[in-house]
Amino acid sequence: MNVLGVVGAGTMGAGIAQLGAAAGFRTLLHDPVPEALERGAESARRGLAKWVEKGRIKEEAASFLEPVSGLDDLSPCELVIEAAPERADLKRDLFGALSMVCGDEVVLATNTSSIPVTSLASAAARPENVVGMHFFNPPPLMPLLEIIRADQTGAPAMELAEQVGRAMGKEVIVAADGPGFLVNRCGRPFNGEGLRLLQERVATHEQIDRICRLGGGFRMGPFELMDLVGIDVGFEVAKSFEELSFGEPRWRPNPIQARMVAAGRLGRKTGRGYYGYAEDGSYRQDDPEPPSASPTPLALALLGDGPLAAGLRDRARTAGHELREGGPAELVVDAGVLPAERVPGRAPLVALCASSSLAARGETGAVGFHLVPPLDEARLVELTRLPTTQRFACEAAEGLFAGLGFATGWVEDAPGLVLGRIVSQLVNEAAFAIGEGVGSPADVDTGLTLGLSHPRGPVAWSEAIGLDHVLAVLDALWDERHEERYRAAPLLRRSVALGRGLRE
Ligand SMILES: NC(=O)c1ccc[n+]([C@@H]2O[C@H](COP(=O)([O-])OP(=O)(O)OC[C@H]3O[C@@H](n4cnc5c(N)ncnc54)[C@H](O)[C@@H]3O)[C@@H](O)[C@H]2O)c1
Repeated sequence: MNVLGVVGAGTMGAGIAQLGAAAGFRTLLHDPVPEALERGAESARRGLAKWVEKGRIKEEAASFLEPVSGLDDLSPCELVIEAAPERADLKRDLFGALSMVCGDEVVLATNTSSIPVTSLASAAARPENVVGMHFFNPPPLMPLLEIIRADQTGAPAMELAEQVGRAMGKEVIVAADGPGFLVNRCGRPFNGEGLRLLQERVATHEQIDRICRLGGGFRMGPFELMDLVGIDVGFEVAKSFEELSFGEPRWRPNPIQARMVAAGRLGRKTGRGYYGYAEDGSYRQDDPEPPSASPTPLALALLGDGPLAAGLRDRARTAGHELREGGPAELVVDAGVLPAERVPGRAPLVALCASSSLAARGETGAVGFHLVPPLDEARLVELTRLPTTQRFACEAAEGLFAGLGFATGWVEDAPGLVLGRIVSQLVNEAAFAIGEGVGSPADVDTGLTLGLSHPRGPVAWSEAIGLDHVLAVLDALWDERHEERYRAAPLLRRSVALGRGLRE
């Protein structure tokens, strides 16, 4: 490949043109608006100059970039990537026109984030030469490129897109066409389940965000993220998912989004979203460091199998607690996915809320807890109680986890509490996507870590937590809510039944 065309010189197009020139392609950048073309070309040149300064590319790269004012000037291109406004009619017209200008052999790529590539491909003279090349913003910095195979796309077009993406230095993943492709689809539950938790008042938006940061290692929680992206933008995306899927219950927009938009609280850009923004952009306090481990040694019965129970047992032993297999204990922690048999006694019970909520478990005096392995990265334990739970049990649970070095946060009762529920839905969506052939397990994880900056991908989460734990949370939500959005993906259920992971 020698000559690349980029159409639309806005935020994305300018960045893609910079990547093209840096990769050594003769790069023709076109925009019908002369000022936009000038601005985009200038931005790409500035980016290239910075890379030359850093020694990343040779000085000659800047000469590979050529702004062109007419669409006809793109005739020598072998690949054209369009980054024009997100309107299907406009993009279809462009593909029709580019087919005429560039001839039969040209590969036409779209950077759309939400329009089905299949519907754009049918506007080109050769639909088999159309492919999605979904760059992330800002293209020069984000390491990921998601290549989308429309129903009509042929192997040569896929190969060319992959080859060009790699030459631009991107980690390339491949997705089948469909709502949100692979990355935005698999990332949806982060916001979607966050909104559900807020709607049910399981926790406030500040609490949910803090739990995601401290408990899950996410850089931001869903509400600070929605504020950053724009609540109106997120609402439009949610509506498009619902429409394209003919009403898939997991992807239904949330009435909270509609109310926020109606109120004009769109996030950072309006100074007010879920958070209020000060002049300097600040909106919340920094997270305090979790307490340093300082346990008062206890006789502890720590029940259950699985990675969570094993991890807690290790922590408790290191902290100097005495672990009792049977017989009386001062505190009983049931960390198993399913409730364990226990020796009757008067010690308070601290029970994992995975296969049921605390209320549905029927232990009226107990405290519920949840945390998501790997434990060496989790810094917060969520706790919940019933109106009948006594204070000494609450204090015992708080004291235990603080003594093990965890921050604690009280939330309302639900299977999986906050983070367990969000992560279970992330794993579930990934299992649906993999099972439906949208992408491979490895690409799902690469996509979410590199494209959305998640601390680990859903497949890696499922391995850290255990698929049985994830399925237990989903089935409990299904049992207690009777909502279709909590139905487990067929691949997930099958994997648990066969004792396999999502990669196998
Ligand atoms: N901004 C993002 O975060 C992001 C991320 C991924 C994908 N995308 C997608 O990339 C595309 C471009 O987004 P953007 O943020 O760069 O938009 P933008 O508004 O910054 O740029 C669009 C450019 O297209 C030009 N344009 C207008 N009419 C045109 C036409 N008929 N033909 C060619 N160009 C035309 C405009 O002058 C403008 O310079 C959209 O499809 C968007 O969904 C955006």
